[in-house]
Amino acid sequence: MQEEINQQERWDSAYASVEEFFGREPSELAIVALSWMRENQVQSILELGCGQGRDTWYFAENGIMVTALDYSRESIDQMKRTAKRECQEGWVTALTHDAREPLPFPDETFDAVYSHMFFTMELTEEEVRRILADCRRVLRPGGFHVFSVRNDHDPHYGQFEPKGEDTWKNPLGFVVRFFSEDKIKQLSEGYIFQWIREFKDGAPPFDRMLYEVMLQKPGLPGHP
Ligand SMILES: C[S@@+](CC[C@H](N)C(=O)[O-])C[C@H]1O[C@@H](n2cnc3c(N)ncnc32)[C@H](O)[C@@H]1O
Repeated sequence: MQEEINQQERWDSAYASVEEFFGREPSELAIVALSWMRENQVQSILELGCGQGRDTWYFAENGIMVTALDYSRESIDQMKRTAKRECQEGWVTALTHDAREPLPFPDETFDAVYSHMFFTMELTEEEVRRILADCRRVLRPGGFHVFSVRNDHDPHYGQFEPKGEDTWKNPLGFVVRFFSEDKIKQLSEGYIFQWIREFKDGAPPFDRMLYEVMLQKPGLPGHP
């Protein structure tokens, strides 16, 4: 019997076979995030699960220094090749890293942490909790953490092959976890909860329903 490939290998092979798996345009989340980054004088961000970098390049082109990580070696190799071509090497640091391992940065390094559809991947609840806490560690006091996850109103919620609590494997072979608003609030302990907003993402290959979540690290002088 042929052994099933793991999720990391699946992403490697998806990115090796399609140049722009999620399309060329930045996500809607990145467009909204850039405007609050500007309003809040954000200069440096950490991006988790950057994939082929459609959002990474958008931020870099708009003057944000991005440290972008993904556990897919293929995606990070592609990012490095693009950086050379676009002459934007100084703005983007791309590295292969599994976010289930401790983040390789000192405390209080970044103004913001950003991810689009990363926490919605094959991660246990405990792993999500631990990664959120590690992100809080590398954020400056008062820094923002914005992310999107697929939610319990998504057309794929409860569909296909069950893989654990609120988690199903879709026909493309990707394991996806879906979040309720309550679950996100439970997992975001230690942050100041700012807002949650539902939006639709129509990037290929199908439509999704997502939550945009905005958290803030406490500790600014004069604030809780
Ligand atoms: C749904 S894709 C989104 C990619 C990108 N943010 C975008 O919107 O174009 C999720 C990404 O998370 C990465 N990923 C999944 N689990 C990871 C982990 N444990 N550590 C680092 N990256 C991971 C995958 O390789 C994939 O590139």
